[in-house]
Amino acid sequence: MIQANSVLLTLREVEKELSSTARCKKLVRSFYGEEHIPLAFVHSFGCQQNVNDGEKILGMLTSFGYGVTFEMEKADVVIYNTCAIRENAEKKVYGLVGELSHLKKKNPSVLIGLCGCMVQQSHVAEKLKFSYPQVDFVFGTHALTSFPTLFSGVLESALSGKRKRMFEIFDSDGRIAEYAPVYRLDRAKANLPIMYGCNNFCTYCVVPLVRGRERSRRSEDVLTEAKTLAAQGYREITLLGQNVNAYGKDLKDDLSFPELLLALNEIEGDFRIRFMTSHPRDCTKELIDAIAKCDKVCNHIHLPVQSGNDRILKEMNRHYDRKTYLSLIRYAKERIKNVTFTSDIIVGFPGETEEEFLDTLSLIEEVRYLALFTFIFSPREGTKAALMDDPVSYEEKNRRFQQLLSVQKKIEEQLHREMVGKTVRVLVDGFNRDHTRLYGHSEENLTVDFPGDEKQIGNFVSVRIDSMENRALLGHIID
Ligand code: SAH
Ligand code: SF4
Ligand code: F3S
Repeated sequence: MIQANSVLLTLREVEKELSSTARCKKLVRSFYGEEHIPLAFVHSFGCQQNVNDGEKILGMLTSFGYGVTFEMEKADVVIYNTCAIRENAEKKVYGLVGELSHLKKKNPSVLIGLCGCMVQQSHVAEKLKFSYPQVDFVFGTHALTSFPTLFSGVLESALSGKRKRMFEIFDSDGRIAEYAPVYRLDRAKANLPIMYGCNNFCTYCVVPLVRGRERSRRSEDVLTEAKTLAAQGYREITLLGQNVNAYGKDLKDDLSFPELLLALNEIEGDFRIRFMTSHPRDCTKELIDAIAKCDKVCNHIHLPVQSGNDRILKEMNRHYDRKTYLSLIRYAKERIKNVTFTSDIIVGFPGETEEEFLDTLSLIEEVRYLALFTFIFSPREGTKAALMDDPVSYEEKNRRFQQLLSVQKKIEEQLHREMVGKTVRVLVDGFNRDHTRLYGHSEENLTVDFPGDEKQIGNFVSVRIDSMENRALLGHIID
């Protein structure tokens, strides 16, 4: 059954995209000839959700007959899947798109597209329309499910020789399409989106503006995909959502997030389960108990706190305070064996005083995070925080940022040192940069380097941690 709620594509809409897929296949053959297998390059910026959207775009392009390349210069179609979370992310994309004008001059038949969160913003789409003529097609986050229809139009215009640029930015919330094929970029780790969008409207954040309201996938679709992934031999499944704890709230008679974890844990196979992002607002003891109970769910929780100060948390519209956050952490430490935490922190939120910043430092020292993703506040068009008074200079914010990094560095070093002598179960990711050792991630999300051979990539091994050098953990395989 395809339609269960109004956000799912209807059967008729799915049929339309499948027939556009067939049309794209024919058009690809006419455009490039029977002999040549054209190549697609898709690069995603931003979070894992965006990476997963990129995998879907690649999945659709391969179903049209394209091969995949990771070298942009070799590609017949180039797509940047963009992120809008901070100004730097957008600047980078404008730089790269600027450079694409050379590629277009050298090879006028190359098709250039932009999609994702950044282009979902109307001011960005306008700028691309007028100042970046090298871009052939642009589609926002909500247009992803109708990509085959859009792309058949792109190919038709390319074949006709009369170039028509396409811009498809819908205001309405995106839909959920269960038909879309996925080209997975990793052979051992798979992303599994369980919900899209966000209802939280943290005052600094652009995500609700570019990704729309929360929409959960039905648990039966999530479970079916997880079973397929486990049967295909994937060793790690990461459940994705901007606020996974709100999973199921928009569905009738379906599972809650803790219930979904328990159901996923029952699936047979040697794989582990991660999830992100868990918002402290909806993180409950029930969820922590479920993590403790499920042997496949990793003992690592990414629980972004953003700030350790109650006034700032309120200004951010986070809906929890320091005390509640710390009590959750304490509960998780009691209930989940060897649990580790990571977090996101924003430094220099508008009006943050030195004392308020120091509250963040003391919280970090109390929790002892394994790693932090730290950001200096970046005003985003359309958000409340972008309109707030911001008297603190960038230099001062940067000084606080550096101080935060140095406090965190010491905590990380201590936590890593405590791991020396212990044995952890590691999923082997690949060779390190100089190709001398393998590296992988433990269940706790520690990165460990160790000698080994190619055969072990994508498998679990037990590693004893022997030493710490320049913050890296070094070990050896013991079975
Ligand atoms: N949904 C997730 C986070 C998604 S965005 C959550 O709520 O935790 C990832 C991180 O980017 C956020 O946690 C926040 O720390 C950071 N971020 C978001 N908007 C930002 C902004 N305007 N300036 C600086 N950092 C920002
Ligand atoms: Fe942004 Fe807040 Fe939603 Fe996370 S929960 S995506 S920070 S609005
Ligand atoms: Fe960026 Fe969009 Fe993710 S703004 S962080 S790619 S949801």
